[in-house]
Amino acid sequence: MIKSLYNTDCIEGAKTYLDDNSIDLILTDPPYGIEGQSLHKHYNRDENNVLDGYIEVAREDYEEFSREWIEQAERVLRPGGSIYIVSGYTNLRYILNALANTSLEEVNHIIWKYNFGVYTKNKFISSHYHILFYEKPGGKRTFNKYIRYGSDELFPDKKSMNYSDREDVWSIKRDFKKGQVKNKNQLPAELLKKIILYSSNEGDRVCDFFLGGFGTVKVAIGLGRKIAGFEKSEIAYNYNIASMDKIKPGEMLGSLRKPKGLGPKKSGKRWLKSDIRKVEEQFDRFLEDGLTKSAAIEAISKKYQRGKFGILNVLKKSGR
Ligand SMILES: C[S@@+](CC[C@H](N)C(=O)[O-])C[C@H]1O[C@@H](n2cnc3c(N)ncnc32)[C@H](O)[C@@H]1O
Repeated sequence: MIKSLYNTDCIEGAKTYLDDNSIDLILTDPPYGIEGQSLHKHYNRDENNVLDGYIEVAREDYEEFSREWIEQAERVLRPGGSIYIVSGYTNLRYILNALANTSLEEVNHIIWKYNFGVYTKNKFISSHYHILFYEKPGGKRTFNKYIRYGSDELFPDKKSMNYSDREDVWSIKRDFKKGQVKNKNQLPAELLKKIILYSSNEGDRVCDFFLGGFGTVKVAIGLGRKIAGFEKSEIAYNYNIASMDKIKPGEMLGSLRKPKGLGPKKSGKRWLKSDIRKVEEQFDRFLEDGLTKSAAIEAISKKYQRGKFGILNVLKKSGR
């Protein structure tokens, strides 16, 4: 049995088993407080393939529950560590309020667009979740900007793949495993992989307070990370823990795509007055030589190893 995965309430479990500042990344999907046991009424799927034993939180307890587990999350994260919380909108405000009562700071509010057949008659169709990406201040945040797409990779319409992958609206399909048993609300492996790759490194410790189908920790092990986590439901825990031995540490690393180009070396670095002057002068010279504005920026980016947005900002400030 894997020792760091516990069949217990996450609030008590964190207090008992997790030290202060011991986790690099928390990626979690708390119960939504919308009577999960009847979620299937809205979804077009065969409920025989959904595992029993999902533990819901009563609406009236949701506020306090959110405050308590998020307090623990704040405590166990290392300074600079990241937390991603997946939430629907019904009880989102309680999660946002709980976060506002901690030292955790917002990094991004991501919209995850999915599609899995919610039925509506006289209104628009709900097709998104919220992913709240926060960090614990006081340390260096891990954000592996070029881990999935390099700076040199473009779509046929010339849009940067890296830029597109880092936009805060994500369109990721739910895993559709016909005939297989799933936890309610199981997150797609693609989504988990994306977050873990951007926000942790090999050997880091990734924790999920609400394991459900154990997707987070399965992907984390596959990517060579250490893990920790909690699941209160005995049924869900026993069903999923049984398959944990099958995952080999780091087994997914070999199949990751190799990004091309790591971007300009000085991208995101501070601009000194002398750097600004050089870029302005070089820009003027390139225009005199007949280059277009965008070709000049491209050439300056290569020459001075600066990101194009940074160069654009500098040029805008000087009225160019
Ligand atoms: C939304 S699901 C998580 C789904 C998971 N992300 C997946 O991909 O399968 C929430 C899970 O939290 C569990 N749970 C509810 N209350 C809990 C608590 N206090 N501590 C730990 N787990 C809890 C539920 O039984 C359920 O499996």
